[in-house]
Amino acid sequence: MQTDFEKALTQVGKKGFLDLDVPAGLDLVAEIARLKQEKNIVLLAHYYQESEIQEIADYIGDSLGLAQAAAKTDADMILFAGVHFMAETAKILNPTKKVLLPDLNAGCSLSDSCPPPIFKTFREAHPDHLVISYINCSAGIKALSDIICTSSNAQLIVDSLPKDQKIIFAPDKNLGAFISKQTGREMLLWNGACFVHEIFSRQRIAQLKIRHPNAPVIAHPECEEGVLQQADFIGSTTQMIKYTMDTPAQEFIVVTEPGILYSMQKESPHKMFISAPPDNTCACNNCPHMKLNTLEKVYLAMQYELPEVTIPQELMTSALQPLQRMLDLSKQFGLGG
Ligand code: 13P
Ligand code: SF4
Repeated sequence: MQTDFEKALTQVGKKGFLDLDVPAGLDLVAEIARLKQEKNIVLLAHYYQESEIQEIADYIGDSLGLAQAAAKTDADMILFAGVHFMAETAKILNPTKKVLLPDLNAGCSLSDSCPPPIFKTFREAHPDHLVISYINCSAGIKALSDIICTSSNAQLIVDSLPKDQKIIFAPDKNLGAFISKQTGREMLLWNGACFVHEIFSRQRIAQLKIRHPNAPVIAHPECEEGVLQQADFIGSTTQMIKYTMDTPAQEFIVVTEPGILYSMQKESPHKMFISAPPDNTCACNNCPHMKLNTLEKVYLAMQYELPEVTIPQELMTSALQPLQRMLDLSKQFGLGG
């Protein structure tokens, strides 16, 4: 007869997550707290997670903060409430620890827009170029890169390289174009994008600006250039939150995934945050991948220690070096860590 664990393992293999019944009336928050303590699990969450997950996280941050938190954790296990490339990053930095992702289907359109075999050919066609890859990419792409960056350190990393160094920037063409403009350097851009950030409507943002003339527009650099031109501030999720805390304005038009509004509102309860509308009839810009994680899945993942993110050892070793370069440079720049 199969044990509960064996049944769970089979299910993860079929579905990518545990679709098991949770006893009615179970206090999930209390159970997750108990499991965290009993098993010494750290819960790392991105700002795009549902509010109830942000509420129980040990650390919430942008991609750089999350990578730094993963690099320095002394927990025995990591539960990553985010998407697959984030959990992979935590695993590369902690090859001997179990890294749990509540739903293995939590991918990323940007990461998917850069398949390693095609990128390898592209890279080989430009042997004199150094490859800077945005952290929103697979372990396979990280292993083909020289330095990893995030939206909070990309400009500093590009600026730190000799002026005559040719650069390939992958996979986000929008972040790449923005950094190119900021640094005045031409870079060869991979043609990838995040579909969540590409559907914001310039026209509807312009209408919002008329209705809220005192509200700064704050945008994530994954947005298209036309949208970024409308922004008063552009930065990573952590930088956007910090801006709303430090700026005297009382209302803000927020152009990124709306999960961030929970943390913004928590930091500045008396300010007003308006989510920028998308260019279609859908009412919101939720990232469907980020929103696959639920409290139930977090609880089940901790209980069964599944689904686990695994990466071949050789790939982990190759992907570590460019990631470590990013962490070392970020430390030099005084960016957390
Ligand atoms: P940051 O939180 O690093 O700004 O990244 C945003 C994002 O799109 C993550 O998928
Ligand atoms: Fe990927 Fe975009 Fe979702 Fe971030 S918001 S995880 S870049 S699809």
